[in-house]
Amino acid sequence: MVVDYRPEPFTNFKDEQNRQDFEVALKKVEQELGQDYPLIINGERVTTDSKITSVNPSDKSVVVGTVSKADQALAEKAIQAAAQTFEEWKKVTGPQRARYLFKAAAILRRRKHEFSAWLVYEAGKSWGEADADTAEAIDFLEFYGREMIRLSEQQPLTRLDGEDNELTYIPLGVGVVIPPWNFPLAIMAGMTTASLVAGNTVVLKPASTTPVVAAKFVEVLEEAGVPAGVVNYLPGSGSEVGDYLVDHQLTRYISFTGSRDVGLRINERAAKKTDGQKWIKRLVAEMGGKDTIVVDKDADLELAAQNIVFSAFGFSGQKCSACSRAVVHQDVYDEVLEKAVELTKQLTIGNIKERDIYTGPVIDESAQKKVLDYIEIGKKEGRLVAGGEKGPEEGFFVQPTIFADVAPDARLMQEEIFGPVVAFCKADDFDHALEIANNTEYGLTGSVFSRNRSHLERARDEFHVGNLYFNRKCTGAIVGVHPFGGFNMSGTDSKAGGRDYLLLFTQAKLVSELL
Ligand code: NAD
Ligand code: ALA
Repeated sequence: MVVDYRPEPFTNFKDEQNRQDFEVALKKVEQELGQDYPLIINGERVTTDSKITSVNPSDKSVVVGTVSKADQALAEKAIQAAAQTFEEWKKVTGPQRARYLFKAAAILRRRKHEFSAWLVYEAGKSWGEADADTAEAIDFLEFYGREMIRLSEQQPLTRLDGEDNELTYIPLGVGVVIPPWNFPLAIMAGMTTASLVAGNTVVLKPASTTPVVAAKFVEVLEEAGVPAGVVNYLPGSGSEVGDYLVDHQLTRYISFTGSRDVGLRINERAAKKTDGQKWIKRLVAEMGGKDTIVVDKDADLELAAQNIVFSAFGFSGQKCSACSRAVVHQDVYDEVLEKAVELTKQLTIGNIKERDIYTGPVIDESAQKKVLDYIEIGKKEGRLVAGGEKGPEEGFFVQPTIFADVAPDARLMQEEIFGPVVAFCKADDFDHALEIANNTEYGLTGSVFSRNRSHLERARDEFHVGNLYFNRKCTGAIVGVHPFGGFNMSGTDSKAGGRDYLLLFTQAKLVSELL
């Protein structure tokens, strides 16, 4: 009997015992840094000469690990392994497959701080952000396991006398799973396990900046007893191996989370039939965001400023859900801006393995360069009121940065920067604020701070984003509570962590027998 799903609680690091436990985990992981990780194809370890090196973004001199790097020949081997394994794995029942997820969740829970410590080192997450990432991974396993049990139950159909009718959800086949680096445990684990619990087999191509956390998670799946070949771990270059996997005739679907440009490229390639391909490839693509917090004139201004700063600068703004635009009613604009600047100037920046550091690095050198380039653009498009510089030289740091008085159509207001930069834009009134909020090609998250009920109701209808929040931050969706996915160029609105998600990895079969 499976108990009801409840989200994994977050760790309170103000508690002395928790602090000590986490420091022990950081030390343990520190001693394991620099190891080499093979590919895993059909359960076999494959070591290649060519490597991907994962570097600690807080301290460039530290190698987190090296991983073998697949070429197209190894990608072919992985697809073939997944295709063969599918013939057996699809026969395992949904509830049996769910148990692998519950077991993996239990292992992850026991090693929670250890996994979070890997996230501190490999992704540059703060203790709190890392802990939330691990908790979310556990939640996905617990939630999708239960969802598969639900989908395995008899599905309601209208009954006709003299007929026995049954609808079942069967798997699709080989899935190519391509996660991003910014939730290197949660999103990677959620995408992978949704696929496998639904009865598919997977080729997992992790993001090249965070392949070690993915390797560690694949070890957890092995420890949980997931059979060889169900998940094949295949780090490699996006353009070489990624394209090959997407184009392959045995690929039944692609589950992608990442940038708009890569998502659109996959969409185009997946739509093209290749020789020997028997199906229309399915694509689940969750992509970028340009997320807005609207502040109305009668809002709680302190709360709004705190949440702008938290949503913009948590994990250095490297969340698809991060606030990168604050659209504020003209009557309260100066006050909200001033409060936000004051709060931002208090944020500590540095090596994120220290508990009390708030702002860690961005993921790598090219991300740092991109963000600094946008800061130069911002200096022409607005008024720099906080930050604007690099941080400590040891890592890829950028100060939390605020630009004021940015026009609604400026590049800073339209393009995803994916770093700690937020643009403030003044709105004439609430109508104008909503119009600006909807003026990008994205549609992922948004928040409205207001005490005006009719304005909130208007936003409910008119603010066109997949995840809309009132009087709270626009980040931090919780599995089962806030199913997550965006509109327009933000993706296919798959609503990860929701009750519709597993259906994307299944097809429904109806069998009708005349009695
Ligand atoms: P990215 O698009 O650069 O990479 C995503 C993945 O695609 C990586 O694993 C990468 O190796 C792979 N890839 C690159 N080229 C490929 C190709 N030609 N074929 C197949 N795979 C290829 O994105 P990123 O930098 O890892 O992540 C940041 C982006 O992800 C941001 O745009 C962010 O908004 C988005 N994101 C969206 C969500 C969401 O739920 N909507 C969640 C997290 C991140
Ligand atoms: N699901 C993550 C959030 O809501 C991206 O912040």
